[in-house]
Order: sequence, then structure tokens, then C-alpha cells
Amino acid sequence: MTALDVIKARVPDAAPVIGLVLGSGLGALADHVDGAVFIPYSDLPGFPHTTVSGHSGDLVFGQLGGVSVAMLRGRAHYYENGDAAAMRLPLETLQALGVKAMFLTNAAGSLLPDAGPGSPLLITDHINFSGANPLMGETSDKRFVAMENAYDPDLTALMRDTAAERGISLAEGTYMWFSGPVFETPAEIRMAGVMGAAAVGMSTVPEVILCRFLKLRVVALSLITNLAAGMGDTALSHEQTKSVAGDGAQTMETLVTGFLEHIAHGDVSL
Ligand code: HPA
Repeated sequence: MTALDVIKARVPDAAPVIGLVLGSGLGALADHVDGAVFIPYSDLPGFPHTTVSGHSGDLVFGQLGGVSVAMLRGRAHYYENGDAAAMRLPLETLQALGVKAMFLTNAAGSLLPDAGPGSPLLITDHINFSGANPLMGETSDKRFVAMENAYDPDLTALMRDTAAERGISLAEGTYMWFSGPVFETPAEIRMAGVMGAAAVGMSTVPEVILCRFLKLRVVALSLITNLAAGMGDTALSHEQTKSVAGDGAQTMETLVTGFLEHIAHGDVSL
């Protein structure tokens, strides 16, 4: 049985059009899904065994903001076992179910002094600083993926409009992927700033690459949990990330749900 077979057997009428990846501390979004059906990753062959606390590891189907969604609650990270492609099968599975666009979320450190802990940040581009790529080993010519407009301009604009309409101040900029699992040094953060990064984190970029490989459209939001290393007074830790992300989950829920309501109204067709 493949993961797709398991899903079709358990949720025969699943017809998600948007997939979501819920990052560290952001899993509570699944509580707002209408008619939710949960399938643990452990029941889905090839889905990752997440080792990161704050990532529960299940796939959730249902309706959010009037849109049929599939939520990946918990992701695999490159730093867990050195596999940058660990999210390939989950993304391929969602694509096979009819998903057209992925809404990726994460917890991140900020290089923007005005976007401190609790601020949402719209990712408009990225820098892959990890040296890894989920398409290493792929042999088809499809591996030469163009990464201009990887963050879909129409979906990104819709996210900006949604935030404005809800009165939420939304920072934006380039997300720089560090492999982790350690946090960055202050010197690395100074370098990231010179290179144009607005935020840093340990995820998301491999998923964006895989999505573009699979021709899935992407919109991505960070929940800033801290000013990046050397910029703030708070000691960085995973506990701190989870706790601030949990506090910001309400803002993320407003943004994600508002965005999906616009999709339901056909403001951007997928
Ligand atoms: N760096 C990398 N990843 C993170 C950070 C950070 O400062 N905060 C939350 N995730």
C-alpha cells in the first residue's frame, strides 16, 4: 500500500486544493479545520518520522476558510538525518490528490529590528545557504528548475492584501536557509544581513524547491520567534521558539484563514 492508497481508503472524498505545512509551534491551526480527519504519518508509508518536538506528525484533511485543505502538521528537516528530500513523498502525494498550491509556514529568526518576536513575515525570496538540495540525485532534466518567482507573485500579493485588510502588519523579505540544528553565530547573522536576508531558519527552502519541481505554487509565511543571534537579549533555544510560535499562532491563523477565504471567493484562481 502506498501513502496515496491509505489516504484514498480512509478519506475517499478528499479533494484538497491547497496544502499547508505547519511549522514549529504552529500545529494548532489544525484545530480550526472543519470536518477534520487526521492520519498519523506513521500510517503513511514513506512519510517522515519527525524527531522534532513541537511537530506532531500527522496529515489533516478538511475545510479551512471555505477551502478544501490538506495539512502536513510537522515536517522533516534536513538536519534530522541529512536528507534534504525528506518531504518529497508527502508533497508528491498531495499533488496526486489534486493540490495546486502549498502554503508553507515556519518559525524563524529576524534580521529586521522592527519585526521582532511574534511578528509574521511574508517570504518573497530565499537564499539557499545550506549547500544541500533536495534534487541532488534526480536524473531527469526536470531537475533544472527555474527559481525566479518561486514564491508565487499573485499568491504573495493576496497574502499582503489579506494582512492589510485584517490590520496586521506584515514584514517581508528574503529567508536564508541554514542547515541547523544549531542556531547561527552572530558573525553568520552579520553575513546574512550583508547578503540581504530578512529572516533565517532551518526549513522551508527544500520544500519550495520540491514544490517548484512538482509545479506546485508556493506562498510562505514565517512567524518570527526571535531577533537573530547577536541582535537581541533573549537566549535562543527550541523551547523559546515553540513558546513564542504558540503565542503567535492566533495571528498566523487569522492570516492563513483570511487568505483561504479569498481563494474560496476566487480572488486568485489556482
Ligand atoms: N535561527 C534559525 N532558525 C530559527 C531561529 C533562528 O534564529 N528562530 C526560529 N527558528
